[in-house]
Amino acid sequence: MADSSKLDPIKWTQDGNYKAINWNQVSDEIDKATWEKLTEQFWLDTRIPISNDLDDWRTLDEDHKWVVGHVFGGLTLLDTLQSQDGMAALRKDIRTPHETAVFNNIQFMESVHSKSYSSIFETLNTPGEIDEIFSWSDSEEFLQNKTKKIYTLYHDDGDPLKKKISSVFLETFLFYSGFFTPLYYLGHNKLTNVAEIIKLILRDESVHGTYIGYKFQLAMKELSENKQQELKDWMFNFLYELYDNEEKYVHVLYDQVGWTDQVLTFTRYNANKALMNLGQNPLFPDTEADVNPIVMNGISTGTANHDFFSQVGNGYRLGKLETMSDKDYNIGEPKDQK
Ligand SMILES: [Fe+2]
Ligand SMILES: [Fe+2]
Repeated sequence: MADSSKLDPIKWTQDGNYKAINWNQVSDEIDKATWEKLTEQFWLDTRIPISNDLDDWRTLDEDHKWVVGHVFGGLTLLDTLQSQDGMAALRKDIRTPHETAVFNNIQFMESVHSKSYSSIFETLNTPGEIDEIFSWSDSEEFLQNKTKKIYTLYHDDGDPLKKKISSVFLETFLFYSGFFTPLYYLGHNKLTNVAEIIKLILRDESVHGTYIGYKFQLAMKELSENKQQELKDWMFNFLYELYDNEEKYVHVLYDQVGWTDQVLTFTRYNANKALMNLGQNPLFPDTEADVNPIVMNGISTGTANHDFFSQVGNGYRLGKLETMSDKDYNIGEPKDQK
């Protein structure tokens, strides 16, 4: 290479040679722990027997069916954004070579997520309904608003930290207006296979949000106090802007079934969680106690091991569902102390 002084030292040696990723020398143990967690919880939509939910589906009226379909249409768009643009954008700002490998894993799983909603549609909806859902998600004003805001930040290479904030807001906050519906049904013991898929997605997003939030906090600490304050102000403004839009989006989706207020409570509760991933104090007064207990019940139910898995024949089992906590980062401690 002509001018090695301009080369990224994470990828290049001082002599201008390209470096192999060495997993025997890991500078940030969180990269390794996250890789292990993510690969351990690998899953595919094709292994969940969604058709077992058809009897439940047929009991829903047209309004509730509409909500389920369009909620998943919205989630498809957001997971598409993560798989097409989000991880590619974050991968440009790595601190370690192992981070690239983790983002490659995340990017693939985002494709699994966005595809899994299509598996749900294929089972529950007619071809005409599926076309309508996709034309809705490709044009709905408030869904497109949030997607375009985050897309624009992902493509602003001048501000790597704003990309990370955007990603955490998307995954730990904006997904939840959609996750509400399957969790609500799960809490009522309905559409449990659809909910299983959503819980696997939610489990992944929990790791993504924690990991990207952690990388954000490392970079944030390196800024001057003034710059930190500036970024914090921007972050809270951006959250308000997204919340304002989210309120309108939730009205569009949920007014017809009367769930709007409880979805907004759940959304604010998760916005606080997104802020916590980014090392900030919560903004909204809403806590777990304010969220519909049926939905919290849906979240806390363990993933089921379907008979289907024993049919796979190689002992394939889903991992136990567990959302990530700060204690997962206490590397080196025995597991029973977590
Ligand atoms: Fe995702
Ligand atoms: Fe994600």
